[in-house]
Amino acid sequence: MVAAKRDYTTALGYLEELKNRDGLSVEELMDSKIRGGLTYNDFLILPGYVGFPSSNVHLKTKLTKKISLQTPFVSSPMDTVTESEMAIYMALLGGIGTIHHNCSPEEQAAMVKKVKTYENGFINSPVVVTPQTTIGEVKKMKEQLGFSGFPVTEDGKFPGKLLGLVTSRDVQFIEDESLPVSQVMTKEPVTAKQGLTLLQGNEILKKTKKGKLLIVDDEMNLVSMISRTDLMKNQNFPLASKSATTKQLLCGAAIGTLPADRKRLSLLVEAGLDVVTIDSSQGNSMFQVDMLKWIKKTYPDLEVIAGNVVTREQAANLIANGCDGLRIGMGSGSICITQEVMACGRPQATAVYNVCKFANEFGVPCMADGGVQNIGHIIKALSLGASTVMMGGMLAGTTESPGDYFYRDGKRLKVYRGMGSIDAMQQTGKDGNASTSRYFSESDKVLVAQGVSGSVVDKGSVQKFIPYLYNGLQHSCQDIGVQSLDALKENVNDGKIRFEFRTASAQLEGGINNLHSYEKRLHN
Ligand code: IMP
Repeated sequence: MVAAKRDYTTALGYLEELKNRDGLSVEELMDSKIRGGLTYNDFLILPGYVGFPSSNVHLKTKLTKKISLQTPFVSSPMDTVTESEMAIYMALLGGIGTIHHNCSPEEQAAMVKKVKTYENGFINSPVVVTPQTTIGEVKKMKEQLGFSGFPVTEDGKFPGKLLGLVTSRDVQFIEDESLPVSQVMTKEPVTAKQGLTLLQGNEILKKTKKGKLLIVDDEMNLVSMISRTDLMKNQNFPLASKSATTKQLLCGAAIGTLPADRKRLSLLVEAGLDVVTIDSSQGNSMFQVDMLKWIKKTYPDLEVIAGNVVTREQAANLIANGCDGLRIGMGSGSICITQEVMACGRPQATAVYNVCKFANEFGVPCMADGGVQNIGHIIKALSLGASTVMMGGMLAGTTESPGDYFYRDGKRLKVYRGMGSIDAMQQTGKDGNASTSRYFSESDKVLVAQGVSGSVVDKGSVQKFIPYLYNGLQHSCQDIGVQSLDALKENVNDGKIRFEFRTASAQLEGGINNLHSYEKRLHN
């Protein structure tokens, strides 16, 4: 027994007397002269006072000088991470997607357009058939696609002149499968004019008791449709990232720094792009500075995220040339071998801290890019000054990421590859594809890989995964004792939020120990 020196009722007063808070301030933690470069795993945030429910925590943040988001989540411009499907759901769930540029400018612009014209609940690329499609083919399509109800357009293309609708009821009992759908289709399906809201569309479906509502323009061209079976599934997305004026989802996309990227950007802007990321592994270059200046002059309303950078000197150059946001990270990505091959880079926590500290002085929001493997890493990046986090590997392998699932060793997998992997770079060059430009100049004959190609396990839909990250961050903020990301930053800067350095054995202790076996399920 230790004899009490003080009365317990004076504990809070004694704390005041001690002056020095427990743990380290962020400056003390990140002093690289003492500790070298740190990664997210090298430290922890000390808990504060839980004085509110976690549901009170909001995660509003800035992506760029002008764009705010309700969540800090951004998806990487990688061809196994972000195409339109991912970008649509990232925006619906309060973040934003950055569409990759390892494709032709036209393909990339079409993906941006798809995000910008997306309306929740509307099927914007319905599968259509021609009047000559046979009943047998329609039955097969139903089997393969899992749904029935195909609009019939004049030339079987979408968008196209609407002629009718064929549903399973029309073909069910017809034995002659060679008959064309024109003989059985409903010639006057229920239609509504483009511009109606989802609510109005749903009302029409309820009243008419039909399964499909076809949306047409003034010339009777089919432009989208609403399906009764989707009615129940339509979720509300209260955090959705939308333009205040057009109400369209926000969309980002990446370009390189080659002269051809100027033409590419013009197509993206035409498609409605909100924010462009200049995609270079080493952002402090004459190519990037020229591109940045040109974009700011040509498209003054377009927000530009420059990078990547890991030092304040790199950042200073891009800030001085007018960037609206910075992307931080070199060598920390899960598929990345840049540090090994180029000997350039910086441990991610140290990079994030140093660049953010500098850039935040100029009101330039920063994105911590790469190396995020769990919720803990996200809150750590935010506590070091980042406003958003960019994720590749965390979002690869989800339903919304590009690519098909395949099975290996009994696991359902999808490919995830670095944009500097030989695989990705070899796709480059076709039709103006651009992945290599992130890593090399056009004239390079020999490809030197800075990334690898691998696979990741099926993670299910981002519609479950992003809310999991969101709730996790709310709980983490609650433990730290802050109700918003602004409060997190403020309290870190004031030295009220404290940190602890983790030794190698402390990291082991924080992991799972001494179990014979276990299953790590992260969410339901
Ligand atoms: P992750 O979230 O740890 O998987 O890292 C994704 C980030 O890695 C991307 O946003 C890029 O900044 C970076 N990256 C993508 N491809 C490569 C590559 O081939 N080499 C190095 N870094 C890459």
